[in-house]
Amino acid sequence: MDTSADIFTNDEIVTRARARLAPAVWDYLTGGAESERALCGNRLALDSLAFLPRVLRDVAERSTATSLFGRSMALPAFLAPIGSLSLFDKEGALASAAAARAAGVPCFISIMSQPALEEVARAEPDAVLILQIYVRGDRDWLRQVVGRAEAAGCAAICLTVDSAVYGRRERDLRNRFSSAAAVDRVNFDDRKSVQITTEQAALSWDDVAFLRSLTRLPLILKGILHPEDARLAAEHGADAVYLSNHGGRQLDHCVPALDQIEAARAAIGADKPVLVDGGFLRGTDIAKALALGATAAGLGKLQGLALAAGGRAGVETMLSLLKAELSNALALLGCRTVAQLDAALLRRTQPGLSSSVLSTFIGQRQPQT
Ligand SMILES: Cc1cc2nc3c(=O)[nH]c(=O)nc-3n(C[C@H](O)[C@H](O)[C@H](O)COP(=O)(O)O)c2cc1C
Repeated sequence: MDTSADIFTNDEIVTRARARLAPAVWDYLTGGAESERALCGNRLALDSLAFLPRVLRDVAERSTATSLFGRSMALPAFLAPIGSLSLFDKEGALASAAAARAAGVPCFISIMSQPALEEVARAEPDAVLILQIYVRGDRDWLRQVVGRAEAAGCAAICLTVDSAVYGRRERDLRNRFSSAAAVDRVNFDDRKSVQITTEQAALSWDDVAFLRSLTRLPLILKGILHPEDARLAAEHGADAVYLSNHGGRQLDHCVPALDQIEAARAAIGADKPVLVDGGFLRGTDIAKALALGATAAGLGKLQGLALAAGGRAGVETMLSLLKAELSNALALLGCRTVAQLDAALLRRTQPGLSSSVLSTFIGQRQPQT
């Protein structure tokens, strides 16, 4: 594995990942549902905001630090849950957890990821791990999974609520590619609960209340977009709402989570964390989300690409580049801390052209033969 010491930009991460990944795996990682409007819309939302910076505010000393559930973070970012990490690097979640720990950011562990949660927790006792759950069984099953998260020392649990059915990802259908067939779901004893079950499609707010009753760990609901659902999440005891359209992989033509931050904030108040993801590739992207009221931004595809480009060192490099970019953005916006970012620093604009590989790889398919 290379050390990634020679990677200076996240652009290079995308280029290397593209060269290393088999075409069907590239498509699985970077593609979206159906016509990929939601996938492309996530980037368009970020690119539709321009900065209106302030100057002469003494930004010699700056900090990108923040906190989540009382735990400090070096950067208002986190590694989003990804189910098939071992497709991009054989270490899978071990690599992501190690890089997140080194960079001082939380790491969501998808219940679909590899190796098992307990192995990751043993290897990275100082990492802030958050187990992301897909419900693939009855309430006894859920109780047992929550018990595992508590025993493994997870900092929180996260229930994904945007996946009543699996999105129709047409690149995968065309490639005859199935991640379920390609990856061993080691967090499931019987290994067969991989397909979306009736339990998952039947989830309701009653199940959130039940999950809330099972644990004192902070509870995050992932995949919220409607402000009324953000309000219901808080009412049912969620400690944070995680705004997401699943990277454009579930419902096509879905609003970008970025555009729902202000409404979610208004619905749940100033105190609870609002997490967001979808299209985040730059420090400036993170600055925009925070200026709108988010607490931290999640990295999905960029995490997978960094793993493919250089394993755990690749993810660590990617996170340190984002931190450098965010620190630069703070200085040039006239802010010393991330708390000083606010909506007065943003203006709506027409998304223009970009010459960066990083901003343009979305929507780029492998050439068809
Ligand atoms: C390859 C891949 C696998 C994913 N697996 C999961 C998962 O197991 N659980 C989940 O809640 N979200 C999953 N997601 C969605 C991410 O957590 C996140 O919401 C999304 O990737 C954010 O958008 P971005 O990729 O544009 O950063 C996955 C995303 C990708 C790209």
